[in-house]
Amino acid sequence: MNFDAFAIGFDHRDRERLHALWDEAIDNEQWSDGPLTRAFEEAWSGWNGLPALSTSSWTGAALAAFEYFELRGRTVLCPSNTFMATPLALQAAGASVQFVDCNRDDLCMSFEDFERKAREHKPRAAVLVHIGGHIAFEVEQIAAFCRDEGIVLLEDCAHAHGASLHGKRAGTWGDAGLWSFAATKTISTGEGGMLVSRHPELIEFADRFRNYGKPDYTQPGLNYRLNEFTAALGIVGTERLDEITAWKNAIAREQLDPQHPNRVHLPEGMVSGYYKYIVFDPLERSTGKVYDEPCHRVLGHHVDLPNSDWVAQNHWCAPLYYRPAERPALLAASQ
Ligand SMILES: Cc1ncc(COP(=O)(O)O)c(C=O)c1O
Repeated sequence: MNFDAFAIGFDHRDRERLHALWDEAIDNEQWSDGPLTRAFEEAWSGWNGLPALSTSSWTGAALAAFEYFELRGRTVLCPSNTFMATPLALQAAGASVQFVDCNRDDLCMSFEDFERKAREHKPRAAVLVHIGGHIAFEVEQIAAFCRDEGIVLLEDCAHAHGASLHGKRAGTWGDAGLWSFAATKTISTGEGGMLVSRHPELIEFADRFRNYGKPDYTQPGLNYRLNEFTAALGIVGTERLDEITAWKNAIAREQLDPQHPNRVHLPEGMVSGYYKYIVFDPLERSTGKVYDEPCHRVLGHHVDLPNSDWVAQNHWCAPLYYRPAERPALLAASQ
């Protein structure tokens, strides 16, 4: 067994249950917009603590929120240290992206640079990305600033499955949380996404947005629906998420932390879902970088973001993939 090789966050003890759910879908002849989609949304809502609506990918959830908050033609602040999906989706929605620097300790948006850029650009919205599987360390300050200044705050939670701060989960600080269940995520449905929000009107808008604006076509929309087979994967994954998080945390504490003192150090009260285990020393056994090049460089924006450049050069990821069969004792220990 190669312990460095990528392992999908699927627990093989769930095969039978997954196959039973797939049989249910086959039998009930409703392969989209059916009971499994609803059950996945309810399960995610239960875990996340907010109403939830599934989409075919993160992009569907993001575009629904960007349209709802009318970002077309408006300035939006976005960290440069993120996956290109974040600025590309903003651009696709017609927003004008201004990049913000990150911190070196958490790799996430810096409140100091965020505040400076907000005063300079007067943005309509900001996207906060929880990079690496932990919550952005300055989430509270950023959220408070956005509330005071009337800036829409959207959280890109694509890495944040399992993460919390004093029990509060990603996606619950801002106006919406945007999740991905793509193939590499801590739990995955192959492809998939979820929008969570405390605004019921946004959930209703997104429900129509993912379905061509039906029934009356008075709002924009295309097809961003999930199918029932994918939703079944989401149900079993969500049910296992706390266990997967506990297992990864046990491996981090027991094996990785002692070897890597120069790593991301989580503040008191924070739990990481360990999408990535990030260190600031070159590693012999590394799965590479979270991102090799900051987005402002990829997109040719002439803005000075020294920490984003520094992070791209100076971090590496140690392999930490969910393999319960290899370490079953940890499952019992983590319960
Ligand atoms: C930070 C971030 N945002 C957005 C995405 C896009 O997710 P999806 O592939 O589900 O559209 C990803 C992952 O792939 C990501 O890592």
